[in-house]
Amino acid sequence: MKRLTSSQIRNMYKQFFAERDHLVFPSASLVPHDDPTLLWINAGMAPLKPYFDGREIPEKPRIVSSQKCIRTNDIENVGHTARHHTMFEMLGNFSFGDYFKREAIRWAWTFLTEWLELDPERLSVTVHHSDDEAFEIWHQEIGLPKERIVLGDEDNFWEIGEGPCGPCSEIFYDRGVQYGCGKADCKAGCDCDRFLEIWNLVFTQYNKEADGSYTPLPKKNIDTGMGLERIASVLQDVPNNFETDLFMPIIQATADVAGVPYGEDPERDVHFKIIADHLRTVTFAIGDGVLPGNEGRSYIIRRLLRRAVRSGRKLGIERPFFFQLVHVVSDIMGDDYPEVREKKDFIGRVVHTEEERFLETLAEGEALLQNLLDDLRASGQSVLSGEDAFRLYDTFGFPIDLTEEMALEQGVSVDRDGFAHHLEAQRERARAARQTQEGMNADRGVLESLTVPSEFVGYTKLETNSVVTAVVRENELVDGLREGEEGDILLDVTPFYAESGGQVADVGTLSSPAGTAQVLDVKKAPHGQHLHRVRVVSGQLKSGQPVRASVQADVRRDIVKNHTATHLLHKALREVLGEHVAQAGSLVEGPRLRFDFSHFGALTPEELADVERRVNDAIWRDDVVDIRQMDIDEAKAMGAMALFGEKYGKVVRVVKAGDYSIELCGGCHVERTGLIGLFKITSETGIGAGVRRIEAVTGRHAYAYVRQQEQLLQTAAGRLKSTVGEFLPRLDRVLEDIKQLERDLESAVAKLNRGRAAELLQQVQEIHGIPVLAALVADVNMDGLRQLVDEVREKLPTHVVVLGSVVDDKVQFVAAVSKDLQARKLHAGQLVKQVAQVAEGGGGGRPDLAQAGGKNPAKARAAIEQVPQFVSAMAGESGR
Ligand code: ALA
Repeated sequence: MKRLTSSQIRNMYKQFFAERDHLVFPSASLVPHDDPTLLWINAGMAPLKPYFDGREIPEKPRIVSSQKCIRTNDIENVGHTARHHTMFEMLGNFSFGDYFKREAIRWAWTFLTEWLELDPERLSVTVHHSDDEAFEIWHQEIGLPKERIVLGDEDNFWEIGEGPCGPCSEIFYDRGVQYGCGKADCKAGCDCDRFLEIWNLVFTQYNKEADGSYTPLPKKNIDTGMGLERIASVLQDVPNNFETDLFMPIIQATADVAGVPYGEDPERDVHFKIIADHLRTVTFAIGDGVLPGNEGRSYIIRRLLRRAVRSGRKLGIERPFFFQLVHVVSDIMGDDYPEVREKKDFIGRVVHTEEERFLETLAEGEALLQNLLDDLRASGQSVLSGEDAFRLYDTFGFPIDLTEEMALEQGVSVDRDGFAHHLEAQRERARAARQTQEGMNADRGVLESLTVPSEFVGYTKLETNSVVTAVVRENELVDGLREGEEGDILLDVTPFYAESGGQVADVGTLSSPAGTAQVLDVKKAPHGQHLHRVRVVSGQLKSGQPVRASVQADVRRDIVKNHTATHLLHKALREVLGEHVAQAGSLVEGPRLRFDFSHFGALTPEELADVERRVNDAIWRDDVVDIRQMDIDEAKAMGAMALFGEKYGKVVRVVKAGDYSIELCGGCHVERTGLIGLFKITSETGIGAGVRRIEAVTGRHAYAYVRQQEQLLQTAAGRLKSTVGEFLPRLDRVLEDIKQLERDLESAVAKLNRGRAAELLQQVQEIHGIPVLAALVADVNMDGLRQLVDEVREKLPTHVVVLGSVVDDKVQFVAAVSKDLQARKLHAGQLVKQVAQVAEGGGGGRPDLAQAGGKNPAKARAAIEQVPQFVSAMAGESGR
């Protein structure tokens, strides 16, 4: 057995299969592209599904890759076992209708025994009980004794949701009796740690449909997967994956931060492992554009980060620390996954913000939980309900184990079953939401049989003389379409762009003396030809018929302006906001463009203006847009930006606008930027965690937009009986007038109040020698009442005042008691409370000034009339 680093293993694997004519495929993004059935890329084959089910034809029928994967079904096990992870790398070799079982098995054996030099005596396998062919190859051709070939059932059938699947054969490595359970029948497939499954060879021959049925695939395929972490643990002779060179540097760095060692206390080690595992996942996911948030993938990242912070606390780390470890992941993985190295500063910033936020959440949650616990104890209960625990968890992100821990410390237990019930109900809602999306469709027989070539010439031509080469209607090849019918057709040459890379399809017409059809949409067929969805408007359209194919030129002109402008916008955003801006989606259509990108928060008006100005500067420089094909490595060396989640071949098309923007792109563009004319941003909004959306218009649509804004201004000016030129000074004058009117009104009211106060002073009566004013005044709100009270207080230094008023069917009272009378136990708060109770209300306040409300206006007068009695009672008591 060779001692190899994980990087060496990864490279040897790719080299082994590259030497056997496999195309080395770079790892795809963790975020599935165009696959609503998956939340994450969770196997090496996942990004290759379109090749398995025939929707697309790969460049070569053999592929090898090392694919980053996320699986989150067993998060709770991570750290407690030797091998559970949320992120792992899968080494895989794939065949699409090319080689099958024999080669897959032989090559796996050669790689393991000759390249990695594993002892053949320690290898055993499982095969599906029905798979005689695989059994015979292992036994007869490889020479594996029968007792080391174990027959299995469902464990030997591989499927993951909808999509390609089939029987499989797993290869196990015997780590030795010291790892075993000691049972007499311990062998490959046993749950203990002795026989380690290192490689799964799947003989993919079915497609699992959305309804659960299995359809045979058009061709037989191979899909294999070897977990890099496992094979590294074997070759580095360590007891678990965490002690390989993929994790140990992270664990070491964590131990340094925590100031406690790894490897002395198994319970403590669990937390080191959780941190190391989750750190990798969080780092890679953020690198692929998934920011922590409250839904879907974003929520998983938030949850993992929070679990890691919790584990940090268990190790005694109370401050943000996780973000400091991101660079360790970049050091370990950066050579093979450059995206992590390039984005490590951005990732670190995102993690830091999220950590700080969570520490605040913990503080809030702790306070809330404390309240709940206090209430429970006050009412003599000792169980926290599942609903409360779930609310803490769901709304405040407060982990259930923390709730339980804190509760137990205070002698309260938690209804875990109730909590689980609420959690399951929520998961059910989430699942239901996911399943409403459409599944994969393997019924592509007809389209896949369309192998006749079709040339796309639409980069330079908008009209061609073409011949109809195939007509498909309702999944069948037909001779032609009649008036009124819809179908899909292929042309030998076409100017029509098929929807891709965010650019919508062209529309237009196909015409001939025999008939005319409208082109409604254009998509790519499995073999890459542009497939036109058409409706025949007159006559008919037949296979073999010559037609004039015409793209609707004005719409196409709008589209190309928007497409080039999208590139300029992407560049300007990176200049203004920073290199972390990554495209998260785009839509280029005739009337407008839409661009989604990763960024923390809303753009300021200054940033937006700056972005818009830079794009327009680039337009007005009238740069040449240079488009050429080149080798992908050359393009990357030139600094070309690649699109998020997109797959690229060896030769790529590079679109360069002056010296400003350079991107890999298959779309249509203007020849010079000046043709775009004008670029105007119409909106900027947030569409999810850390993702912003800009909508903008160009050319004639930008003009229309500006014109519309101008008209708005004209209308507004007209309403003020002004002109656009005079509008602002006129508006200022109107606002100034309003202010003056408010001031006038205020002084008029003050004057009125003074008059009213003078009248009220006439009604003062003496109770036990105390001047008391109690009155009901008409139509005065609370502010007015208080002003009146102030006026009265000024004129009457020694006083008890209670004023009431009925407004909108509610009674309001204000009471005031002068300082000298407070010494005689007269209290404005208590007084107003008694008064309000008469009118079926309540209130209170300070000894000098207080207010209250009553619900029954009919009792307002009676309440005021009782004031002398209340005062008398209070003063009388104090006299005693
Ligand atoms: N797709 C197979 C697996 O993940 C190889 O095990």
